[in-house]
Amino acid sequence: MQIPQDLIETAALKLKSVQSEAEFFQLRAQYLGKKSFVVSSFSMLRDLKSEEKVIVAKELNILKNDLTKLFENALQEIEGRSDIVKLDVTLPADPFLVGSEHPITKISQKILNYFIPLNYQIFSGNEIETDFYNFEALNFPENHPARQMHDTFYLNSNSKSEYLLRTHTSNTQIHAMLSEDLPLYMLSPGRVFRCDSDNTHLPMFTQIEGLVVDEAVTFGDLKGILIDFIEDFFNEKTDVRFRPSYFPFTEPSAEVDIKFGSKGWLEILGCGMVHPNVLNGCNIDTKKFRGFAFGMGVERLAMLYYGVTDIREFYSSNLDFLKQFPS
Ligand code: PHE
Repeated sequence: MQIPQDLIETAALKLKSVQSEAEFFQLRAQYLGKKSFVVSSFSMLRDLKSEEKVIVAKELNILKNDLTKLFENALQEIEGRSDIVKLDVTLPADPFLVGSEHPITKISQKILNYFIPLNYQIFSGNEIETDFYNFEALNFPENHPARQMHDTFYLNSNSKSEYLLRTHTSNTQIHAMLSEDLPLYMLSPGRVFRCDSDNTHLPMFTQIEGLVVDEAVTFGDLKGILIDFIEDFFNEKTDVRFRPSYFPFTEPSAEVDIKFGSKGWLEILGCGMVHPNVLNGCNIDTKKFRGFAFGMGVERLAMLYYGVTDIREFYSSNLDFLKQFPS
């Protein structure tokens, strides 16, 4: 086996021109790493005859020790130099792609992106909630149908327990009003749960709640922002209809429909002026402040946006379906 005599000299020469820690480590791998001449030669020793093996092994060991010392000294010298580019271990790793964003995540983000520049703060909310935040503070009467066992998942099925899976994101209105200063402009996306299941309803789905509490807000402001949002979302002039409705926590209340081709009017959200009982319950001075709120179903908007006809597709984990919405 032929051992190159100038290995140490060329390594030393190359080390002199090193400008960065990264270059140094690359060079060290070249001379002392697994694939380097010295290290890979050790594994070839077994093919040699025993007398030659002893001689070559000795030479290789000397070479390896000399190279190791050379690189140790060079590292010390390099670390003392002020002009050397250091390794930044805090740099993020190279990103790698795994799958694609879920269509519901994409649509949620698209909705949030409309409101964020208007200074709405994003709130996260609890999925497991108490009766107080989900119903009582929202002015639901004791016998409201939404409170029935067959509509709501209570955490203890024997009796109406204190904890339940929230039936809407409106619980975040109460948390926000009790904890934040006014004026308040907030948006809260998240999952909600109802005992319901067919091709347009799921027991778990996604809503985005919006709430504004300020000194001079009107139903006109609410209408304006929702119409503008809808046109921005679908990127075209859209026929929008505010249909009178009832929610215990808003007065007046409306449901918003949009005209969708041959399918006629489709409901996409509920909204209204925050009921004075709700504001009073959150210690807000109703002589000074008013509010409006809205809650939209993200799956419903995603179905319209992408032309999906069965809501269950979103959660069937069918990759052929999900891959149609690449990031
Ligand atoms: N929480 C209502 C629902 O889930 C929607 C809504 C939100 C209505 C805010 C009015 C104001 O149907």
